[in-house]
Amino acid sequence: MNPVGSSFPDLLLPPTAFPPSFQWGVATSAYQIEGAAAEDGRTPSIWDTFCRVPGAVRGGDNGDVACDHYHRMPQDVALIKSLGVDSYRFSVAWPRVQPHGRGPVNPAGLAFYDRLTDELLGAGIAPWVTLYHWDLPQALEDAGGWPHRDTAYRFADYAMLVFDRLADRVGTWTTLNEPWCSAWLGYEVGVHAPGRRDFGAAVAAVHHLLLGHGLATQRMKAAATREHTFGITLNMGTADPATDAPADHDAARRADGMGLRAYLDPLCKGTYPQDVVDDLAERGVAFPVRDGDLDVIATPIEVLGVNFYFGQDFSGTDEHGCRVDADGHPVVRVVPQDRPRTAMDWPITPERLTQLLLRLHRDYPGLPLVITENGAAFDDAAGESGFVADEGRTAYLAEHIAAVAAACEQGADIRGYFAWSLMDNFEWAEGYAKRFGIVHVDYETQRRTPKRSALWFRDTIARHRAT
Ligand code: NOJ
Repeated sequence: MNPVGSSFPDLLLPPTAFPPSFQWGVATSAYQIEGAAAEDGRTPSIWDTFCRVPGAVRGGDNGDVACDHYHRMPQDVALIKSLGVDSYRFSVAWPRVQPHGRGPVNPAGLAFYDRLTDELLGAGIAPWVTLYHWDLPQALEDAGGWPHRDTAYRFADYAMLVFDRLADRVGTWTTLNEPWCSAWLGYEVGVHAPGRRDFGAAVAAVHHLLLGHGLATQRMKAAATREHTFGITLNMGTADPATDAPADHDAARRADGMGLRAYLDPLCKGTYPQDVVDDLAERGVAFPVRDGDLDVIATPIEVLGVNFYFGQDFSGTDEHGCRVDADGHPVVRVVPQDRPRTAMDWPITPERLTQLLLRLHRDYPGLPLVITENGAAFDDAAGESGFVADEGRTAYLAEHIAAVAAACEQGADIRGYFAWSLMDNFEWAEGYAKRFGIVHVDYETQRRTPKRSALWFRDTIARHRAT
């Protein structure tokens, strides 16, 4: 038995590795859990539209009902409280708060987040807001979406509507969740909303997302009447060369450039990396930067949210040894690693999380880090009682939390860890087929049942507190 009376073995966690103020939390996002897609004045987002495109989302699933969190919020906050976490990271649905993406606030929509904030505070849980987790109002996509510069200004206006209402009670404000996904999966690969396939549009989207972040952060900072923590969340992995061949090093550099440095350099240094600019120029494309944009983007932030799932190895040649693809573009190929994988077919690479955190600490010094997402999908089968004994997810969390502890011990400034996700939910293009929750959701009955991983997480947090 460990000090808090858990029957779980002490899994890997050196209890002294985390600072006493370390924040433990769970995370969700609006479209993935709320449902109530057409209630109280909410208008469609790009995901509502995308879900209706035949074949776009597995099983034809959509977020119309999702976890029905919009109607079950107080019970869900009680569930979060039962886990003993310090913080809850949730996102605000732009089309709920400002239908059509411009104009006045929708009071009924904003009132939901007001109630959620109060419910959390009443339960002793700190709210952590993400302003944009992928649900762009469809009307703004119709006007050009993120490739269109005006969207950045619309985002800053929307951010202020939320900030004005909740800033007296919410301490942490992050602008965007994983802008890489919004830009590349949404506008170049087309597997996420809005499903466009246009390289130049994706590059423009990267810049306008960052500009929107900077404009919103500047305005919130100017309006703040108390101390807040402002930041952004990026999806980050590690990009290693598959072999020592120069072509593989070049592929890893390209992946790291477009995946990580293209965001962190402008955010922290006020400049796009020259090699990324050169790579884009090879393809006749450039970030649409105007005078002053980079100063806006580099508005100081107080936290970097790190979403980590896996690290990858890259090769600069295809299976036949060719360095360019059919379109004449350099090959940047992910080489499968011989390692256990999750249900998403993602390799399990906890040591790369330590590597990433130490690298961020070294290359972008002075920026406090919080793991805003980490977790895994496994094909969980609930027993008759509804209990899921998810050994795989529990081990995944234990190994990754140990990896965070290792980075803390080696000097990285890491302030918190949020498990993705509080509960099973709508996993974007995978619909409801992939379950990331530490709490099981029975979508027929909307019954929530904490899995073994949730109980382990609760006990881990309690043990940390007891030390
Ligand atoms: C990152 C995204 O922020 C989240 O919405 C998603 O569910 C997880 N990754 C898992 O894919």
